[in-house]
Amino acid sequence: MSSLHIRHLSHKYALTEVLNNISLDLHAAETLALVGPSGCGKSTLLHLVAGLLTPAEGILQSSFQGVATVFQEPRLMPWKSARDNIALGLKALGVPAKARRRLAEELGRRLGLSADDLDKYPHALSGGMQSRVSLARALAINPDLLLLDEPFSALDVGLKEELYALLDQQISQQGTAVLLITHDLMEAVRLADRILMMVPNPGRILHEFPLLQPHDRRDTAWVYGTLAELMQVETVRVGFGLASGPLPEPVFHSHDQGCPV
Ligand SMILES: Nc1ncnc2c1ncn2[C@@H]1O[C@H](COP(=O)(O)OP(=O)(O)OP(=O)(O)O)[C@@H](O)[C@H]1O
Ligand SMILES: [Mg+2]
Repeated sequence: MSSLHIRHLSHKYALTEVLNNISLDLHAAETLALVGPSGCGKSTLLHLVAGLLTPAEGILQSSFQGVATVFQEPRLMPWKSARDNIALGLKALGVPAKARRRLAEELGRRLGLSADDLDKYPHALSGGMQSRVSLARALAINPDLLLLDEPFSALDVGLKEELYALLDQQISQQGTAVLLITHDLMEAVRLADRILMMVPNPGRILHEFPLLQPHDRRDTAWVYGTLAELMQVETVRVGFGLASGPLPEPVFHSHDQGCPV
C-alpha cells in the first residue's frame, strides 16, 4: 500500500526557517487536514510533498505514483479552454483526444460547469469556476495522492457539499490519499481522518486530532457537535487566535519518532 512518511523536516526561505521539525504519515485512502493560521507554512509543506521544493533538513519518502496538486491559486493555462485545461494531464498519460474530451466534459459536469463554461478561457471564468477547473484537472488523472490547497474556499455552500461527496467517492472507490489544507475547521471535521494543527514562527505541528467516525456517518449534527468540542480545546483556541496566552507544548509519543499527537 502506498504511503508518505515525513520525519523531522525543516525548510528555510533564504535564512528564515518557515517549517521546523515536521513529522507526519499519510496512507492510501486516508485524508489528512492541515489547519492553522495564515503564514504557518501549510502551502510550503504541500509544495515540499509535491516535489516543487527540496527540504533543507529531514526525510520525505513517498511511494505514491500519481500525484495531482490543486494549488492555492488555480494556475490554469491562459491559452487553453477550461475543457483543455481539465484534459491536460490526460494528454500526458496518452489518452486519445476523443476520450480526453469526453472525460473532461463528464468531470466538468460533475463539478457544476456547463458546456458553455468549458468553452471559455480562464480569464472569462469566475474565481470559483477556475477553482473547479483546477480540481477537475487534478481528479482527471485519477491520482493516488491528491494535494489540495484550499480547493473549496471560493465556492458556495451547496456546491461545497457536492464536491465533498465527490471527494469521499474518490477516496472510497479509488483509495486516493488526500492532504487537504483548509482554513475552515468545519471542512476539516467533515473530511479528515486526522487534523494536524499548525502554528507559525517557525511553522510546526502542535497537535493531532484523530476523527474516528466513518465518513458516511458524518451527518450535520455530528459535524457541528465535533466542531463545538474542538473549539473548546485550548490549543485550538490559542492556535486560531481566539484566546490569548502561550501555546501549549506539543505532546510526543515515544514510539512515533517525534510526531506530535
Ligand atoms: N517563495 C517564498 N519566498 C520567501 N518566503 C516565502 C515564500 N513563500 C512563502 N514564504 C513565507 O513562508 C511563510 C509560510 O508561507 P506559506 O505560504 O507556506 O503559508 P500558509 O500557511 O500557506 O499561509 P496561507 O494560509 O496564508 O496560505 C510565510 O512567512 C511566507 O511569507
Ligand atoms: Mg497557503
